[in-house]
Amino acid sequence: MRKKIKSKNKKISKEELRAPRGMRDILPSEQIWWDKISKEVNELAGFYNFNRIETPILEYASVFERGVGEETDMVGKEMYFVKSKGEDRLVLRPEGTSPIARAYLEHHLGRTASLQKFFYRGPMFRHERPQAGRFRQFTQIGFEVMGGSNDPIYDAEIILLCDRLLKNLKIKNIVLKINSIGCRICRPNYKRHLQSYYKNKEKKLCTDCQRRLKTNPLRLLDCKHDNCQQFKADAPNFLDKLCNGCSSHFKSVLEYLEELKMPYSIDSALVRGLDYYNRTVFEFFVEGPGSEFGALPAGGRYDYLIEMLGGRMTPAIGAAVGIERLISVMKAQGLEAPPRVHKKVFLIHVGELAKKKSLNLLESLRSAGISATEALGRDSLKTQLRLADREGARLALIFGQKEIFEQSIIIRDLETHLQESVRIDTIVDEVRKRLKSH
Ligand code: HAM
Repeated sequence: MRKKIKSKNKKISKEELRAPRGMRDILPSEQIWWDKISKEVNELAGFYNFNRIETPILEYASVFERGVGEETDMVGKEMYFVKSKGEDRLVLRPEGTSPIARAYLEHHLGRTASLQKFFYRGPMFRHERPQAGRFRQFTQIGFEVMGGSNDPIYDAEIILLCDRLLKNLKIKNIVLKINSIGCRICRPNYKRHLQSYYKNKEKKLCTDCQRRLKTNPLRLLDCKHDNCQQFKADAPNFLDKLCNGCSSHFKSVLEYLEELKMPYSIDSALVRGLDYYNRTVFEFFVEGPGSEFGALPAGGRYDYLIEMLGGRMTPAIGAAVGIERLISVMKAQGLEAPPRVHKKVFLIHVGELAKKKSLNLLESLRSAGISATEALGRDSLKTQLRLADREGARLALIFGQKEIFEQSIIIRDLETHLQESVRIDTIVDEVRKRLKSH
């Protein structure tokens, strides 16, 4: 109790009056960009037959420890643990794929249909160092195909879907990087080659890579530290060490991309850190303005994830992209903000009685599907007319004492400034007629 009083009296600092570091408010003026992206995603998901799935923002830590891997930065260093009353080890989800695999198992979704296509949109949390395009809370859109076979055509379909999303958003200068990181059969062999190549260079590596050499040697290839760059060029190439199955799978994915006339560049250093990936991994980037924000859609095949979480081996592939990054790239490429949808009708009241009746009048318009707005808190006619103009409304409805008495209302065309009085009980039809004739 005493504690409560203490915190009540404590003055809130300037720092605490800001959104937490790496997290942002999305103000009303930004929403047009978010709406545009949501609209494109919903449409694409519909065309490609992906069904929306939502999972909680909190998950047990073990879902990510098992799937993404304890050795990864995302799980080992960046997860936000939530202090709760129980003993549960709950975390704010750092990514969306593992929770969907968890839900797939929990609800036996594999029984409903052998192949399931999901899409999602939601906030993810990673305690990373904030920088351009990197936040601690960000919103991912993701697409996942789970079940069925590991047919390479699904790899191509997911890549195609990501490409379509970028193109529909009019993002230019797109580059697709792709690689294969093999399977349980060929990866251990490749890791040994990599470890023996790096063995006599250990002392020259950054401290993270010295650790990775023992725990997660594939990550040596995507280290960004200056010291480590010099060794990458001569490192053994995974593509030379793939087993026959992985090699022909990768070849087929590339053939599908060629058939789709989709340019790609094979990047043997692309390994995508997370433990659950196997075979195809890929990332989309842009060149030129916007490139500083990092990878756009990124993903890969993860045939072992559901098994890692306790289910049967289930082929799967997917990708995700951060909405904030998409918006930053669109702005950096000079794309115009999507047009704001203006309210069509602005109701202006004159006098107390008209104000009293305004809510009912607005409701009758809205129930008829006409988007209407007002400034009911402002009583001056001049101010209300100015606000109607600013809103970009096509029609102003002017409703005053005289109109109430005569059971009428004035319709003013805000482009031509012509106005006319009509019977109040015909208002919906009269408004519709005028909106149509525009
Ligand atoms: P990821 O590479 O960690 O993969 O994230 C995918 C995308 O999310 C990134 O390419 C980027 O667009 C966005 N993103 C990641 N971290 C941040 C951040 N800190 N701030 C802003 N945007 C960020 C995954 O999360 C996998 N679950 C993707 C996947 C789906 N793989 C298979 N299915």
